[in-house]
Amino acid sequence: MSETPRTPSSDPTDSATPVPPAPGTAGPAAPRSAGTYDDSPAAEMERARFAQMNFHTRKWVRPEDLNANGTLFGGSLLRWIDDEAVVYAMIQLGNQRIVTKYLSEINFRASAVQGDIIEIGLQATSFGRTSLTMRCEVRNIITEELILSIEKIVFVGLDESGEPKEHGYTDITFERDRFPEELRHRRS
Ligand SMILES: CC(C)(COP(=O)(O)OP(=O)(O)OC[C@H]1O[C@@H](n2cnc3c(N)ncnc32)[C@H](O)[C@@H]1OP(=O)(O)O)[C@@H](O)C(=O)NCCC(=O)NCCS
Repeated sequence: MSETPRTPSSDPTDSATPVPPAPGTAGPAAPRSAGTYDDSPAAEMERARFAQMNFHTRKWVRPEDLNANGTLFGGSLLRWIDDEAVVYAMIQLGNQRIVTKYLSEINFRASAVQGDIIEIGLQATSFGRTSLTMRCEVRNIITEELILSIEKIVFVGLDESGEPKEHGYTDITFERDRFPEELRHRRS
């Protein structure tokens, strides 16, 4: 499951489709110099680990996602992560009423600039009685840098009265077979 960037051109280096800075923002940060591909064993291992995560989605950094420094605004990134992870939790736990319970330390290690494409990877790491725990990594597809990692994001499924609800699942599904009951009637 992944989302293709909603851009006029999917090629981030395509200078024929520049995106102007939003009014009142600092605009894009200065262009970076060409990086070198890190082919060290450690970098290869990091890439392989990222590729094996259960779920990936991509986002294109738009003018409205920038901070005053002209780089990706942390609040936008955290909203994207939460949006993607909560839907992933709904599909895993078969419950539409999912709330974010806990986020472990977040270390923003690198950033992204306007026009970059970032990839969010999620890995379900454990199923509790009412909760699902995930790990998250975000990488910059252009520079290949690790933007952040979050070791633990805990979601809890609730019942109609807002109390934690036992889900009964112990492993990941790769199918769409746990659709919340209340949504099933909308499937043809
Ligand atoms: C989610 C909520 C109903 C849980 O209530 P609670 O009294 O903590 O419930 P419980 O103690 O039964 O815990 C529920 C689950 O959360 C887990 N949990 C609770 N506190 C946790 C913590 N600090 N870290 C990790 N997991 C935690 C428990 O282990 C349990 O999981 P399990 O059933 O799989 O073992 C309640 O905390 C709540 O409504 N929080 C607000 C959620 C919200 O609004 N999120 C959006 C914020 S922007």
